[in-house]
Parts: sequence; structure tokens; C-alpha cells
Amino acid sequence: MHVTPITGSIGAHVTGVNLREPISPELKADLRAALDQYLVLAIPDQHLEAHHQMDFCRVFGIPIVNPYAPGQDPQPELTHIIKEANDRAGVFGGGWHTDLSFLETPPSGSILCALEVPPFGGDTLFSNQQAAWDALSAPLRELLIERKIAHVGKPYGIKWAPPLEEQSMRGASRRNDPDADRERLHPAVLTHPVTKRRSLYLNPTYALRLEDMSETDSRPILDALFQHTTLPEFCCRLRWSRGMVTIWDNFSTQHYAVNDYFGYRREMRRVSFSGYSIQQYTS
Ligand code: SIN
Repeated sequence: MHVTPITGSIGAHVTGVNLREPISPELKADLRAALDQYLVLAIPDQHLEAHHQMDFCRVFGIPIVNPYAPGQDPQPELTHIIKEANDRAGVFGGGWHTDLSFLETPPSGSILCALEVPPFGGDTLFSNQQAAWDALSAPLRELLIERKIAHVGKPYGIKWAPPLEEQSMRGASRRNDPDADRERLHPAVLTHPVTKRRSLYLNPTYALRLEDMSETDSRPILDALFQHTTLPEFCCRLRWSRGMVTIWDNFSTQHYAVNDYFGYRREMRRVSFSGYSIQQYTS
């Protein structure tokens, strides 16, 4: 297995592996170590079928069903993210977020397979939230270190959600689920269970307010943090190719699907998994 960093901050391309074959214990260990180090791994030319993707997922954890965009039987864990060539609506994941951070037990990672990609555009940005913590000013660190943040779902998040007709995959996301409207408190700062690196756990799509503070008082602080956490220095921009597989650490990153490929179809297949629990990131 060969690992080539994408930037000095986050992401690596992995070659020399075949994820259609059974994954040996040695390869498992190498992949896990690479993910712990680079947080996002992009593995080209894999062309995985759904069952391969599920097997690969089980290397890292238990596949979970996305309650707001479940896949079809017999694999409800697999969400198809499709944007048709003539779709002018927003794109699924088209804002900085960490997947499903508003759940009681958010997934620790996700795996995305590129089934069809536009000839240009449709990249995904990833931001390293460990680097964001490292570069945070001391007063903000102090404010956040023992604090929780309230996350609220509703597909596409809280009250700033774009209207339904402007959202991509309108039919796939279930809206108005009261469970997604409940605030869920998660620590603002997580610690990776293996590397012990700290990361910021907040994102503009789902984070609503700081614990013990109103939304109004929280807003300027959150806005400053959102700007900080997505600085270009912490980011990589992933260019997809058909058949590429990407896996990321959801507790140490944010990501953003770029909506710049009108006129072309894009189809991805995603699964999220619960590997390390958020409690393991906090103990
Ligand atoms: C997502 O948010 O998981 C989708 C990312 C993408 O389609 O690039």
C-alpha cells in the first residue's frame, strides 16, 4: 500500500490496494493507521459494488442507516447521492458539515464511492478539525474545552435550511421528523482515541448554540469558529474519478460538496459507520 499526502494538512491518496478482494488483517491495520494520520483517504480505481462497499465499511465499524436519507432494501445503509444534469437545485452536502452530528450517537466516519462524476467540478472539500484546534487562540480554547455545543438536525439543518424546492434529492430526504428538531449536546472538543489529537466538533449546518448560552449570544462566537475551522490552510480539495472510494474520520473533519457542475450528472454511494463512539473521543 502506497500513501501520498494530498496537502500538508489533510488527506492522502492510497494506491496499491484492491478493495474488491478480502481485506487482510495487515491491510486493515495499515488502512486504519493511515486514516488516523491523514483523516481522509482517497483510493482510486476500485469500482466497488454495493457489497464490497459494505465489506470495506465493516473494516472500520458497523454500517448505520442514515435516518434522513435511508437507502433502499436490502441495503438501507447505502444512500445514493444523485444530482441529475438538469437539476438546478442545491447539492446534497453542499455546505460545511460533519455527517449527522445531531444524532445522539453520530457516526465516526463515512465512505463515499464515485459511480458517475462530471468531467470537471463536483469536487469535495475537507477540513482538518485537529489543525483547527491546534491553531485556535488560547481564549477560545478556554471557552470551548469543557463546553458542549447543541446540534440540531432537520435535514439540512435548523432554521437556515434552504427551502425544500431548492434542495437536491428532495425525494430522498425525509423532513419534519420531530426527532431531528431536538437539541443534542456534544462536546465542542474531542480527543482522538488513538493519536490523542484534539479536534473541534462543530459545524455550521447543525451547530445551533453553545451550552448555557442563548442562540443570540452564541452566534458571533459560532460564526468566528465556522470561519476559523474552514480556513484554506486546514483544507484539501478532492478531485473525484469514477471508481474512487473515499473514507473520512467524521469526528476530526468537516466536508463540503461543491455544486459547480450543472449540465452533468453525478452519482455517489455513501455509507456511514459507527466505529469509535463519541464517548471514546471524549474519555
Ligand atoms: C456528503 O456530504 O456526504 C456528500 C459529499 C459529496 O457528495 O461530495
